[in-house]
Amino acid sequence: MMKKTLIFAVMALLTVSAAVADEGMWIPMLLNRNEAAMQRAGMRIAASDIYDVNHASLKDAVVLFGSGCSGEFVSPEGLLLTNHHCGYSYIVSHSTVEHDYLTHGFWAMSRAEELPCPGLTATRLVRMADVTAEVLDGTTPGMSEQERAAVVDRNIEAVKAKYTDGTHYRAVVKPFYYGNQYFIYINEVFTDVRLVGTPPSNIGKFGGDTDNWMWPRHTGDFSVFRVYADKDNQPADFSKDNVPYRPLKHLEINIKGVDEGDFTFVFGYPGTTRRYVTHDAVDLAANVENPIRIAMRDIRLDNYKAAQELSPALRLRYATPVANIANGWKKWQGETLGINRLHGVEQKLEQEAAFRRWAAGKPEYATVLDQLEKLYGRLRPVDVRRTWYSEAILASDLMQRASLLRQLYQAGSDNGRWMKAAAAIDRSNARLFADDDIWAEHLKVDRRIFVETFIAAWRAGQTPYMDKKHRTEADVRKTLNRVFDKSILNNPGRFAAFMSRYEGSEADRKTILKDPAVELVNIAYAYALGNYNGSEDQNKLYNRLNDSINLLMRTYIKGMMEQYPDSNFFPDANLTLRVTYGHVQGFRPKDAVYYTPYSTLDGIIEKENPDIYDYVVEPRLKELWQKKDYGRYANSKGEMPVAFIATNHTTGGNSGSPVLDADGRLIGINFDRCWEGTMSDLLFDPNYCRNISLDIRYCLFIIDKFAGAGHLVDEMTLVK
Ligand code: ARG
Ligand code: GLU
Repeated sequence: MMKKTLIFAVMALLTVSAAVADEGMWIPMLLNRNEAAMQRAGMRIAASDIYDVNHASLKDAVVLFGSGCSGEFVSPEGLLLTNHHCGYSYIVSHSTVEHDYLTHGFWAMSRAEELPCPGLTATRLVRMADVTAEVLDGTTPGMSEQERAAVVDRNIEAVKAKYTDGTHYRAVVKPFYYGNQYFIYINEVFTDVRLVGTPPSNIGKFGGDTDNWMWPRHTGDFSVFRVYADKDNQPADFSKDNVPYRPLKHLEINIKGVDEGDFTFVFGYPGTTRRYVTHDAVDLAANVENPIRIAMRDIRLDNYKAAQELSPALRLRYATPVANIANGWKKWQGETLGINRLHGVEQKLEQEAAFRRWAAGKPEYATVLDQLEKLYGRLRPVDVRRTWYSEAILASDLMQRASLLRQLYQAGSDNGRWMKAAAAIDRSNARLFADDDIWAEHLKVDRRIFVETFIAAWRAGQTPYMDKKHRTEADVRKTLNRVFDKSILNNPGRFAAFMSRYEGSEADRKTILKDPAVELVNIAYAYALGNYNGSEDQNKLYNRLNDSINLLMRTYIKGMMEQYPDSNFFPDANLTLRVTYGHVQGFRPKDAVYYTPYSTLDGIIEKENPDIYDYVVEPRLKELWQKKDYGRYANSKGEMPVAFIATNHTTGGNSGSPVLDADGRLIGINFDRCWEGTMSDLLFDPNYCRNISLDIRYCLFIIDKFAGAGHLVDEMTLVK
């Protein structure tokens, strides 16, 4: 067994690029390096059709949607597609029990009805450039990571100014390969983005968290926005005088669809991958962090979901937190399963053994892995404390607000910080105290979450600050309940009065510090992220260890590139624009099972269950299905396609990304990965890793046939 994996791993290493054909998230500016491979794989356009600074190219049709999703222009009038789950919090914020757009959907039938979304941005990349030399100017090989960072930060500010002075552009500089290389991104940031349409939840979130991260999938995961600009087509904050933005390029839509084996690529903003980390990091994520996170989120989800069953108002109240908590909770389960099934830790150990053999006698590289191993040994307990703090101690609303109050205390009389902390508390209060019934129920839910997660941390030995005064679990519970009852944060009247006369005086600050919830969060913070009982400051320690790890990883990856000079190492995702390519393809998730690559409306009817919220089918949709009234959106077999899978290497942030065909035409909207491949941020396996896309034809069918908003489709450019 061991021998077999060893041989496999060695083979994989010798043929890194060939074996992992579809792995990689490539830099648009450097795409000419991938062009030949992409064309061999079936692409019929040129790299310069995808990214070009002298002519309009596909990149001008792609945006960073908000701060963590992608989107694409599909009309000359700024119409933008993204996922339903990316528009989710904006849809929720426009929803009330009376006008429940989240549940029933929303369609602006005229421009005047489009809904402003304060805070939402759409960011277009104008161009990028390699600024490594400028950023590293003045650094020397012997520098400590802190010294280097100081020089680098200064250089980055200068570079950003140089590239944007006198323009309305904003720039970011990002490190690649752990700081072996730096690129600047010069962006145009649009701040007037309006909600145009969303399907009802039982289409946009069909299958809910049950189907999330899974195939076969039938979620109509899209929503529609429009970007507005000033009269000169430049970004402007919301104004009635703004007009629809005219993009340099909008995507053409291929409504003929694609078949298994066809070339496809995804163009968007993947957030984070950690492809090159060592076995310790893989083990820490899969076997230490993930199990803690999953167990603590079980507690929160059980309680929130039970409350959601009680009333529509509570369902809406908890919709966004549940969607967010559940998403990570499920992904981490898949990730740990996938890593352990593929013997991820052992695979890494074998690769490291090969590196050690290669590095022996090379002074720059010989001890890198030993040093990394030592650092991870020290990082692990620090990391465990942090994980318990963020996932257990801060699980309840009470502790989250106590932590905001703690920030208010720390801001003292510093006006800017003070206002920010106070505003954050106001926002969370508005959410919590708006309705008496919701508040009463929330107190019950939050007490259970607060006590149960804290008790779990106590059982794990993660709350030593409780040990002096508490012998038994019952003692701890008693204290926690007292904290919950006594905190001013759980007394809306008293708290509102306190906040209205708060001015950051010493007396005010003392009142905060004496609040039992703040007291508790304070000491928990000290233990996990500060200094407790004279220990070393945990936050500083954590940053220092990570800095050192980063420095060594920079050397390690440089070494691997020398070790395998013929391989094309893709840089880890870092929320910059990337291209990933592959083929529409089914897979074998387990023995005797083959997953075909696309799903249809028939499957929605198969899953229908009026008693289960996630599987309620909209009557109008069923009617269209009964009549097979699919218009021009059916496939050649007369079916209504819903979603498809492909071998594109994607990650969080790729949600909403355009999925394109060999000619660069839109065929889908990326929204998820398959369960068996959720470990791909750390470990990509072409046999299991698939991205899931919404078929663009289902999106158009819903807009046109289901919602009767065909005027939106009329804006788009459809090709057959
Ligand atoms: N798993 C997808 C992503 O990571 C979709 C999440 C939204 N859906 C949900 N049921 N929570 O964003
Ligand atoms: N749903 C994810 C997102 O919001 C994309 C799925 C993934 O992580 O690959 O970005």
